[in-house]
Amino acid sequence: MATTLITGGTVVSATGRAAADVLVDGEKIVAVLEPGSQLLGTDLTASVDTVVDASGKYVIPGGIDAHTHMELPFGGTNASDTFETGTRAAAHGGTTTIIDFAVQTYGQKVMDGLAAWHEKAAGECAIDYGFHQIIGGVDADSLAVMPKLVDEGITSFKLFMAYPGVFYSDDAQILKAMQVSADTGLLTMMHAENGPVIDVLAAQLAEAGKTDPYFHGIARAWEMEEEATHRAIMIARLTGAPLYVVHVSAKQAVEQLAAARDRGQNVFGETCPQYLYLSLEEQLGASSEEWGAFEGAKWVCSTPLRARAEGHQHAMWQGLRTNDLQMVSTDHCPFCMKGQKELGLGDFRKIPNGIGSVEHRMDLMYQGVVTGEITLERWVELTSTTPARMFGLYGQKGVIQPGADADIVVYDPNGHTSIGVNKTHHMNMDHSAWEGYEIDGHVDTVISRGKVVVDGDRYLGSKGDGRFVKRGLTQYLV
Ligand code: URP
Ligand code: ZN
Ligand code: ZN
Ligand code: ZN
Repeated sequence: MATTLITGGTVVSATGRAAADVLVDGEKIVAVLEPGSQLLGTDLTASVDTVVDASGKYVIPGGIDAHTHMELPFGGTNASDTFETGTRAAAHGGTTTIIDFAVQTYGQKVMDGLAAWHEKAAGECAIDYGFHQIIGGVDADSLAVMPKLVDEGITSFKLFMAYPGVFYSDDAQILKAMQVSADTGLLTMMHAENGPVIDVLAAQLAEAGKTDPYFHGIARAWEMEEEATHRAIMIARLTGAPLYVVHVSAKQAVEQLAAARDRGQNVFGETCPQYLYLSLEEQLGASSEEWGAFEGAKWVCSTPLRARAEGHQHAMWQGLRTNDLQMVSTDHCPFCMKGQKELGLGDFRKIPNGIGSVEHRMDLMYQGVVTGEITLERWVELTSTTPARMFGLYGQKGVIQPGADADIVVYDPNGHTSIGVNKTHHMNMDHSAWEGYEIDGHVDTVISRGKVVVDGDRYLGSKGDGRFVKRGLTQYLV
């Protein structure tokens, strides 16, 4: 098996940093050593196959993006990244594991939905991948089958309080699924927005001629995120289910999470880079020469971008600092403007919902270190260590220690990354939600299970390198 020594860098974990060399043998990390360690009196660099010089750079556990939607059929089209293109883009950005959402639609057997997702991903991925299971139809059959997901290495399922007629579950269905969650330890993931109310508001806006993307954000009022978050928390409290609220964007939803956590409930929250940086006013309300007010369609996602004037973005950063929000995923769900987002020209309700960011999460979150919003250690915790613990991968992933998979990123804090569709972008999209973002920092080297897949700006990975990882139960309960 090939050996690699990453030498001269600062190894950063969720709890600290130290100058250290990292020795990799085959697919595993075998030692974290004093800098310049010797083997039988000889410099170790002379006895390994590959030396990666990380002088002046950070050596961090590979990113884990626990919320992606490769090839998701949604809004009358399919998310534009395949597992091949999406995982290649992820690797470029320093993410070495994704957890994607297998889909069970209403009337479909859960295991058939899962098998179809395995078929899409098998042999296609550049990096390791796991699945959560979307339960789009909570019925007697799916409730009976859900406990078996644990044996499949799928230890979390997502329910939707939004999207009536698509993935929506009513409160009775949520109660029953959460009872399974409480019994089995499967983590309930919740899309917490009151879909029935939002759909009425959206119809009223459209009827009044308010059809631009901006009104997507008006229809999806923060009050209905707060309300749904509260309802999910209370049903979880009643049943004893552990609850993870996905893509939190409203300040008031964070307050609900904080209150539940303060009374000791196993309730967790994820936010996404778009809710930290982007807003209703600047992005959903944008207009361009090419698209006019439809420019905002690039940022139509749910939950929506929120008003900066109301302080939501600030509250997300604060929640990340206080651990009322525990991690950052992308909710990567890319659609091109041409032929996809365009479906909603003249009616924001028909714009496929989603933003593509899988390639940029590590860089975007590192900006929080640069601006002083979070510490270097918290950056690693939010993007790798907590995702691993939350979703039952810790020890194998999310940490640089002997025995862990050799998923390692060498990050150059003095490097620079220009984000844009014609610059760094490898996602299968005709635009970037992050066009023009200039990043202090650069993903220099990416090692995925011992193989160097990104070396400077050379891509050395290949599809099929990535394997399905079976996950254990969450390791994050309080
Ligand atoms: O807009 C979004 N978030 N699209 C993906 C589906 C979901 O709700 O996560
Ligand atoms: Zn969702
Ligand atoms: Zn999602
Ligand atoms: Zn680069």
